[in-house]
Amino acid sequence: MTRRPRRLRRSPALREAVAETHLHASQLIQPHFVMEGGGSEPVPSMPGIERTGIERLVDEIDRDVDAGLSSVLLFGVFDDASKDDRASAAVDREGLVPRAVEALKGAYGDRLLVMTDVCLCGSMDHGHCGVLRDGNVLNDETLPLLEAMAVAHAQAGADVVAPSDMMDLRVEAIRHALDEKGFQDTAILSYSTKFASAFYGPFRDAAASAPKAGDRKSYQLDPRNRRQAVLESLLDEAEGADMLMVKPALAYLDVIAEISERSLLPLAAYNVSGEYSMVKAAAEKGWVDEAAMVSEILGSMARAGADLIISYHAREALAEGWLR
Ligand code: PBG
Repeated sequence: MTRRPRRLRRSPALREAVAETHLHASQLIQPHFVMEGGGSEPVPSMPGIERTGIERLVDEIDRDVDAGLSSVLLFGVFDDASKDDRASAAVDREGLVPRAVEALKGAYGDRLLVMTDVCLCGSMDHGHCGVLRDGNVLNDETLPLLEAMAVAHAQAGADVVAPSDMMDLRVEAIRHALDEKGFQDTAILSYSTKFASAFYGPFRDAAASAPKAGDRKSYQLDPRNRRQAVLESLLDEAEGADMLMVKPALAYLDVIAEISERSLLPLAAYNVSGEYSMVKAAAEKGWVDEAAMVSEILGSMARAGADLIISYHAREALAEGWLR
């Protein structure tokens, strides 16, 4: 008897029948950059992505929800004038993101899953993810600000808060703060394994959140470290995270695979801005088949073990039927 694996690749129906991974719209999360005012403005380094005012965002999401894309992750884009060294704009209960959450939950209720990024970089005048003193990002001094930001989002009705700052012990601190204020049911999706990555470049453009000086290597993970990467996620699980995340995704599929085996929590992969923009740039030049490439990329994350995928491609991929 000879083994002939090609037998199962003979026809589309046969290939479909033995396919091991199937992506469903409910697994996808679309990030949105929310800005003050009406209308929208394009993000030059991310073709197809815009910063959007709250009203317009509420309108736009209607067709996504119809297409089954029912999860969003919100980022606030703050103007320079509102930034300071205490992230006042981010912790404000009447601030941009809480107002966006209220508008979206008011319009869609439980038909839409609203997740919010919890991090200070976009509202700090120095652009770091925590309180800065003498060039150092202080860990424990940052925690109260993250707690206040998460509570403000929960009060506005966020279903899930997603801390992305990489301070130690922030999941435990946020869980405690939420519980104390009566938000036992607000879930935490921790950016548990987040690397110091060049793939965030276009995002920092979009969110105006680049550090003015230095880099994020004293708090985000070193890309060379697999064991530390797993440890970070396991610690966040122990601190009370409801879901874990690996970010970026494409260069870290090994890490996704390992964490998905070592933790029982749902695992998200963040298909970050640089991964998105590379595909868009090559597609604009006509060098690649965008539809096939996006389906292959998102499929690889699911195959590696991701239950959820945060991707700027989500809306277009579903609208254009790229995942079928
Ligand atoms: C905030 C944050 C970043 C991203 C998500 N949340 C940027 C960073 O850490 O510098 C990156 C997302 C992307 O590149 O798509 N800390």
